[in-house]
Amino acid sequence: AKLLLLHGPNLNLLGTREPEVYGRTTLADIDADLGARAQAAGHALEAFQSNAEHELVNRVQAAREDGTAFILINPAAFTHTSVALRDALAAVAIPFVEIHLSNPHAREPFRQHSYFSDKAVGVVCGFGADSYRYALDAALARLP
Ligand code: DQA
Repeated sequence: AKLLLLHGPNLNLLGTREPEVYGRTTLADIDADLGARAQAAGHALEAFQSNAEHELVNRVQAAREDGTAFILINPAAFTHTSVALRDALAAVAIPFVEIHLSNPHAREPFRQHSYFSDKAVGVVCGFGADSYRYALDAALARLP
């Protein structure tokens, strides 16, 4: 099956961005790791990062046409702001897992509301780059 890995704003800076919060693993490392794991399980994973809300909305909409079976998404700051991205995921009705490197519940109050969690199959947060691995495992276990 096809899996889509989406990364929101500022995640292109992973590795150097507040490493005490987000770790030293780069986005390229995460994409390569998940791509290899998906492939080893007989699936295909495509990764996409954008700092622009409309680009992420457009990519989610395209997922309905390209046969994507499952979405893994770290909406980053859009977690706490984006009704548009939430609506896009609801519109395409593709199951998704919400991912965070940090544990937003242990941080500032404004990070404690997500526009995605109540629509997600599940949420993985707080395990650094390992959050992505656990989310992929959860998705793989739910694929035909
Ligand atoms: C994040 C948490 C968000 O609150 C923050 O805006 C991010 C990254 C995480 O992965 O921990 O950019 O989604």
